Amino acid sequence: MRLPILTLFGLFPYALAGVTVQKPGLTVPARYQSNRAAAEQIFLTSYNAYKKFAFGHDELLPISKTSGDDLGGWGASIVDAMSTMLVMGLDDLFNEAVNFSSRIDFNTIPAGGTISVFETTIRFVGGLLSAYELSGEKHPILVTKAKQVADKMAFAWVGDNDVPFGHIDFSDNAPQIAVTNIAEAGTLSLEWFTLSKFTGNATYADLTAKSVEHIANLGTPLPGLAPQLIDPSSGQFADAYITWGGGSDSYFEYLLKYARLTNTNNNIFIDTWKTAVDSSIKTLLKTSTVGNHVYLADLDDQGLIRHVGSHLACFHAGNWLLGGKLLNNQTIINIALELNDGCWNTYAGTATGIGPEGFAFISSDGNFTGDAITADEIAFYNKHGFYITASDYIQRPEVLESNFYAWRLTGDTKYLDRAAAAIASFNKFLPSPNGVGFACLNDVNNPAAGFIDDTESFWFAEVLKYLYLTFDDPEHISLDDYVFNTECHPLKAPPALNSYTGSGTLIPKKPFTAHTTSGPRPLISPI
Ligand SMILES: *[C@@H]1O[C@H](CO)[C@@H](O)[C@H](O)[C@H]1NC(C)=O
Ligand SMILES: *[C@@H]1O[C@H](CO)[C@@H](O)[C@H](O)[C@H]1NC(C)=O
Ligand SMILES: *[C@@H]1O[C@H](CO)[C@@H](O)[C@H](O)[C@H]1NC(C)=O
Ligand SMILES: *[C@@H]1O[C@H](CO)[C@@H](O)[C@H](O)[C@H]1NC(C)=O
Repeated sequence: MRLPILTLFGLFPYALAGVTVQKPGLTVPARYQSNRAAAEQIFLTSYNAYKKFAFGHDELLPISKTSGDDLGGWGASIVDAMSTMLVMGLDDLFNEAVNFSSRIDFNTIPAGGTISVFETTIRFVGGLLSAYELSGEKHPILVTKAKQVADKMAFAWVGDNDVPFGHIDFSDNAPQIAVTNIAEAGTLSLEWFTLSKFTGNATYADLTAKSVEHIANLGTPLPGLAPQLIDPSSGQFADAYITWGGGSDSYFEYLLKYARLTNTNNNIFIDTWKTAVDSSIKTLLKTSTVGNHVYLADLDDQGLIRHVGSHLACFHAGNWLLGGKLLNNQTIINIALELNDGCWNTYAGTATGIGPEGFAFISSDGNFTGDAITADEIAFYNKHGFYITASDYIQRPEVLESNFYAWRLTGDTKYLDRAAAAIASFNKFLPSPNGVGFACLNDVNNPAAGFIDDTESFWFAEVLKYLYLTFDDPEHISLDDYVFNTECHPLKAPPALNSYTGSGTLIPKKPFTAHTTSGPRPLISPI
């Protein structure tokens, strides 16, 4: 419960009411409201295509009108779509999905193979528990199912190891793949904490929090900024590459969100997040020589700045906006809004109005990315202030996710214009030419390059939910009441504290020692 009257009079601005994230009194102007229905229509068209050609499988392959099962074969799209159905008020589809989910047997793997603890946690544990909460706790079977799959995944913690293995063979519970990354090891805490809340078994929360604490307590190449790879057996980092992109991304995201979801008095989560942001501003923040766009660079194993960005990393703006509000730090908010503009520019600058998977830029300190820059790239850069290094669009949410935070925090309708432009681009360029739902694109700057035959489960969970909520009543799923997991499943948060400043200092860190691995780099997590 917030007390806006007191803050209006400037009395005890932060003393009595918890810190707020959203702009108070925000409404969506009438001229934008048709966009909410447009987002819902894309969802319905996509989901009906999934039902017709792929129901019960993980994903629809819309071009070939078949299905894919690379997430265990338990019907990932159904579970991932459930919280969006509730947000959109699609009760019939939701009831059908509950019926389906209640009959998933997580002890068998219809599709064979090993299971990613991260991918399974964010979709299945997150999706089931969010649906349980949002539907008024009426379907306890959803908690039972989340517990069933988490009890299998708990075998990823081997012996006294704090850090879980990234993958498990569900047939014999044996951990797989020697090296994991901090995103896989550090993006479980919101979901497993919520599972502890509903089962009364604290083990789930403890296992996942201790993994994050372990990573946060290791010496890092830059203060607060852990590198990508970690070996669960030794508990040591296995490289020195720093990025807010894939493989690391949601570890940083959850440091902040865990502090907000739990209101924990253990300061390591918020202190590490704050230190990571501070280091990033000092070392990774760059401005392009064309257009003055603001980006976060990577720092590679040799300590060299790489002038690269990615769709995945673009969640950073929304995350920094949330953190800037919780910390009451306008510097962080201002930089986040600039980062958000930089990411949006990668949409605005392409032929489809949709942003690419990977991009690069030039700043006053150079253009090093690890690859040579071509004449075509220079020409594109000189027009747009970025150039494309990976041209595909695979229905990722991050740019529209950050845009959603920017709207809810500032109330500036330019963010509604951007979301409306994205909806128009999706309707123009993503419909599968055979009329079966929405597909992915090979080249955002050349629609003639054709489609990728996939409808991602996070298209349902994330992209269409963020778009819908951007145009919905801002009090519905308010950022003051919910924390989104990295798959955009809303989890109910307790009333906010008066401040999230943690211990008030940046955490001192032990010196970083590299334990580089000679093995192949593991696949980088797709979320
Ligand atoms: C659940 O689905 C099964 C299989 O499709 C169906 O036979 C059954 O009637 C459904 N139950 C409910 C309560 O809708
Ligand atoms: C709590 O969950 C863990 C992990 O699955 C399990 O090993 C343990 O037996 C559970 N504890 C109780 C009291 O059920
Ligand atoms: C706000 O964050 C910036 C960037 O980390 C930091 O330099 C500054 O000290 C912070 N301000 C306050 C009041 O903590
Ligand atoms: C990129 O950097 C190299 C090395 O500093 C420089 O020789 C080259 O001219 C730069 N290219 C562009 C397009 O700025």
